Amino acid sequence: MKKTLAFNWKMNPKKLDDVYGLAEASDAAHVIIFPPFIFLEEAKKVLHQAALGAQDLFWKNAEEDGSAYTGEVSGEELKNLGVTHVIVGHSERRRKLGETDAIVARKLKTAMEAGLTPILCVGETQEEKDLGKKEEVLRTQLEISLSLAVTGGLLKKRELYVAYEPVWAIGTGIPETPEDAAATLIFIRDFLDEHYTIKPHLLYGGSVDSKNIKNYIQLEAVDGALIGGASLKKEEIKAIVAIAQQLN
Ligand code: PGA
Repeated sequence: MKKTLAFNWKMNPKKLDDVYGLAEASDAAHVIIFPPFIFLEEAKKVLHQAALGAQDLFWKNAEEDGSAYTGEVSGEELKNLGVTHVIVGHSERRRKLGETDAIVARKLKTAMEAGLTPILCVGETQEEKDLGKKEEVLRTQLEISLSLAVTGGLLKKRELYVAYEPVWAIGTGIPETPEDAAATLIFIRDFLDEHYTIKPHLLYGGSVDSKNIKNYIQLEAVDGALIGGASLKKEEIKAIVAIAQQLN
């Protein structure tokens, strides 16, 4: 499979003027950019090859009264805007905003129902790693996050990405080694194949930049990378895209 680059802009850039340059630099095949909601529509205008992704989404309260939630954005709205992919369960939302696996499950199902491709993020904290609980943590995150999509029969019908992002590697400049990242992705791949007979695309994320990306994406088990900080600097973006293109 072609190596995919997912560029997670988080709360950047600070103003609209800077959106165009970042989007233009990223505009290549097998790239997905994830601007903040407020810039999605403008970023889309400069894209010819890259896909447009959102960093999060929310469900409408269909089981109760179908009402909308103040401040949230639905899968339907994103789809109508031309968004094709959506991140669910990023560790910043899990750790700092109290997003549970049960919430992630609802978001993943909502995304699939809306025809969006989810990028499900999973990963352990430093403490969980030190306690030897990495695999247990990943298994639980996967099982609960996928539970509603399994029940609805959606999981087999839709495309899915799983991004392994160790919490301790995000934004720290200390990535997981390529060998260990690949071994963990193989663990995830085998688990999902065995229990769900699905074969999602597998990304590594956490302090990936132009200097180290090749070490990850040249490995067979690694289908691409989810990149935060390095996706905000034009020179970095161009170098990363060039490396991925050489391999594709
Ligand atoms: P980073 O972020 O590349 O800055 O470590 C990755 C992410 O948060 O998805």
